[in-house]
Amino acid sequence: MARKKGIKRTCLVVIMSMAVLFLLGVLVGWLVRPSVAVGDDTGKLLNIEKELMSEMKAENIRTYLRDFTKIPHLAGTEQNLRLAQKIQSQWKEFGLDKVELVHYDVLLSYPNETRPNYISIIDEQGTEIFNTSLSEPPPEGYENFTDIVPPYNAFSAKGEPEGELVYVNYGRTEDFFFLERNLSINCTGKIVIARYGKIFRGNKVKNAILAGAKGIILFSDPADSCAPGVEPYPNGWNLPGGGVQRGNVLNLEGAGDPLTPGYPAKEYMYRYKADEGAGLPRIPVHPIGYHDAEKILRLMGGKASPSSWKGNLNVSYSIGPGFIGTHSTEQVRMHVYTNNQVNRIYNVIGTIRGAVEPDRIIILGGHRDSWVFGGIDPTTGAAVLHEVVRSFGKKHKKGWRPRRTIIFASWDAEEFGLLGSTEWAEENAKILQERGVAYINSDSALEGNYTLRVDCTPLMYRLVYNVTKRIASPDEGFSGQSLYDSWLQKSTSPQKKDLPRINKLGSGSDFEAYFQRLGLASGRARYTKNDKTDKYSNYPVYHTVYETFELVERFYDPSFKKHLSVAQVRGSLVYELADSTIIPYNAQDYAEELKNYADSISNLAKKYAEQMAAYDVTFEHLYNAINDFTASAAGLHQRVKNVNYKDPMAVRILNDQLMYAERAFTDPLGLPGRPFYRHIIFAPSSQNKYAGESFPGIFDAMFDIESKDDQQAAWEEVKRQIAIATFTIQAAGDTLKEV
Ligand SMILES: *[C@@H]1O[C@H](CO)[C@@H](O)[C@H](O)[C@H]1NC(C)=O
Ligand SMILES: *[C@@H]1O[C@H](CO)[C@@H](O)[C@H](O)[C@H]1NC(C)=O
Ligand SMILES: *[C@@H]1O[C@H](CO)[C@@H](O)[C@H](O)[C@H]1NC(C)=O
Ligand SMILES: *[C@@H]1O[C@H](CO)[C@@H](O)[C@H](O)[C@H]1NC(C)=O
Ligand SMILES: *[C@@H]1O[C@H](CO)[C@@H](O)[C@H](O)[C@H]1NC(C)=O
Ligand SMILES: *[C@@H]1O[C@H](CO)[C@@H](O)[C@H](O)[C@H]1NC(C)=O
Ligand SMILES: *[C@@H]1O[C@H](CO)[C@@H](O)[C@H](O)[C@H]1NC(C)=O
Ligand SMILES: *[C@@H]1O[C@H](CO)[C@@H](O)[C@H](O)[C@H]1NC(C)=O
Ligand SMILES: [Zn+2]
Repeated sequence: MARKKGIKRTCLVVIMSMAVLFLLGVLVGWLVRPSVAVGDDTGKLLNIEKELMSEMKAENIRTYLRDFTKIPHLAGTEQNLRLAQKIQSQWKEFGLDKVELVHYDVLLSYPNETRPNYISIIDEQGTEIFNTSLSEPPPEGYENFTDIVPPYNAFSAKGEPEGELVYVNYGRTEDFFFLERNLSINCTGKIVIARYGKIFRGNKVKNAILAGAKGIILFSDPADSCAPGVEPYPNGWNLPGGGVQRGNVLNLEGAGDPLTPGYPAKEYMYRYKADEGAGLPRIPVHPIGYHDAEKILRLMGGKASPSSWKGNLNVSYSIGPGFIGTHSTEQVRMHVYTNNQVNRIYNVIGTIRGAVEPDRIIILGGHRDSWVFGGIDPTTGAAVLHEVVRSFGKKHKKGWRPRRTIIFASWDAEEFGLLGSTEWAEENAKILQERGVAYINSDSALEGNYTLRVDCTPLMYRLVYNVTKRIASPDEGFSGQSLYDSWLQKSTSPQKKDLPRINKLGSGSDFEAYFQRLGLASGRARYTKNDKTDKYSNYPVYHTVYETFELVERFYDPSFKKHLSVAQVRGSLVYELADSTIIPYNAQDYAEELKNYADSISNLAKKYAEQMAAYDVTFEHLYNAINDFTASAAGLHQRVKNVNYKDPMAVRILNDQLMYAERAFTDPLGLPGRPFYRHIIFAPSSQNKYAGESFPGIFDAMFDIESKDDQQAAWEEVKRQIAIATFTIQAAGDTLKEV
């Protein structure tokens, strides 16, 4: 017995030892496990993404576009409030957790309803012998609308200036330099006439004011608003001679509502007096079409213009000042009676609360207000946004929630200076800078029908490439191929021939406050035209009464397949950002771009080699900081590869580093003289708000530096800007290092 017991005990000890050894083995195995991510969620993600994307239908987008473009939706009007309420109720039906209207009282601008704006040619007696038209001939079927706002430039100063005319080409900085420096033409006291195109119209007005002009006329030249071989609307998509581009002429530099710069335009907010508002032009501005422009330009005398200044009208494009021969006693008189007025605007804010990280936010926002019917701008984008919301709402109704919170926004008063989106960013600035992961814009879904155009932060490059590989190409001749394939073939990156082109973010739409001021990683995507040379000139009927549903349906996207692709791009970006366990950003692409931007600014500096040496200016430290950032980014992504998805703290630590990576490039002091542009790597170009500029502080300090009187001071400023960029990149890189 005793012996048997002994044997039994021995067996027990052996078994227990084996169990302990086994557990030890497991533990050792665990400790020395190969470095691969545990619990990678790619498979689950792809399934949900596929479900959300296949729920979206071209036909629905078509229906929404038809519905939303039946009447004008000018910001600050009853009609646009009613559309907001309709969108609110439909988003609720679609299944969002919460949908609210959020209002602000902002400065808007409308023509006087009884006293029209126009431009005259006056004779010696002051008699108005020619007047420009007061409205655009309405397209067929739209003749009976009484609420089509006549063409005007919002926020123009009032006045009736009279004087000699000077033709200033596109009104760009280089055009005024040419007038002043090569032709010795002084615009002081003159009225200038500039063609639309190349740059944001507000920059033209600013340049005219700096040149001393007392008024500015903007016109659409057929060279910039008519494609060869295409008929004017309604037989084609070119601009008719009576069509006129509306648009605001503010120089807000990101301020939002002119009367409450930096702060939300709520009831309690302090408002500047109307004449102290941010960005308001001091001179009258008025837009005209090319039929009227031809009649005025035909009279121009004075200096001949260089060939690059000539458009496609049958006139000489003489520069002036003043008129030719028998017309030399005639002058131009402007009549502008537009009023600035504080009105209430409404954003629609819809939310799906995140399941795991409700305090992390992804925004998909686009504007709802339009100049007239908004056929392309913004409603192709608003219809796409609506379909994305419907798809996400439907999935949510079935019990799904994304990991993070998604906010859908229908912004108001974008056309009046990005007002709705900027006021909401201002009201929520603290929350957004603590918790904002990304902002995706949903303005116009197309400006052409050729291929995809993406502008985004380098953090999103890989995500954009990844999602476009999973979306079908809507292009003819690409059946069975992906959007990525057709995009790559039609638009390759200038630096990397094996990747599609992605552009820098500038401004001109609602992402501005989120990216340039708050430093949220941002992106936008739309279909674009086949034009590599001039991406800042808009499609021909931009901001005219001819932007109708029929324009889009007949000429841009009859099947609405391109709309669907854009919906899928915007939707899958939002989905991946909201539901991936690890935020799908790549800082190594940022590192690479920083290097490219540094190369391009130092190339620009090469022509100043002498001054650089004399004033001891060098890019060496900037490159060192970029190298350090590059190493930190590589380390971060090594840790991303190895992270244990089941360890919430480890995941959150990495996600915070990824989320704050963009924010780290902002400087609370802002760029010189531009307190609301705080991103040190990107800003809207000082010469053209539409374009993005890299290293804007350095670029602006070096711009036209040779003509500055105090060279020492000018180069000291360049040095200071290089140092600020160096510090910012160094500090941003430090945030990526292992904690
Ligand atoms: C519009 O013009 C009319 C006629 O000149 C004038 O009486 C009226 O005060 C103007 N309205 C505004 C709001 O300025
Ligand atoms: C231009 O309009 C003014 C004001 O209505 C009018 O007096 C003038 O006769 C018009 N001139 C022409 C040529 O129609
Ligand atoms: C516009 O009004 C006229 C006169 O009432 C009417 O004959 C015409 O059919 C209307 N046009 C449209 C497009 O509704
Ligand atoms: C203007 O003048 C400058 C300096 O004389 C010259 O370099 C430049 O080529 C001229 N620009 C044009 C467009 O003729
Ligand atoms: C342009 O003319 C104004 C007044 O006529 C004068 O004050 C100014 O100095 C002139 N500008 C240049 C660059 O000559
Ligand atoms: C251009 O205008 C001139 C008169 O200024 C006219 O003789 C000529 O026929 C016009 N050409 C065209 C193509 O319209
Ligand atoms: C892109 O896709 C590749 C291959 O599936 C994956 O390894 C990578 O993590 C993805 N990157 C992003 C940013 O989505
Ligand atoms: C749409 O595509 C066709 C075929 O490439 C092209 O001829 C047409 O000009 C495009 N339409 C627009 C509005 O760009
Ligand atoms: Zn728009």
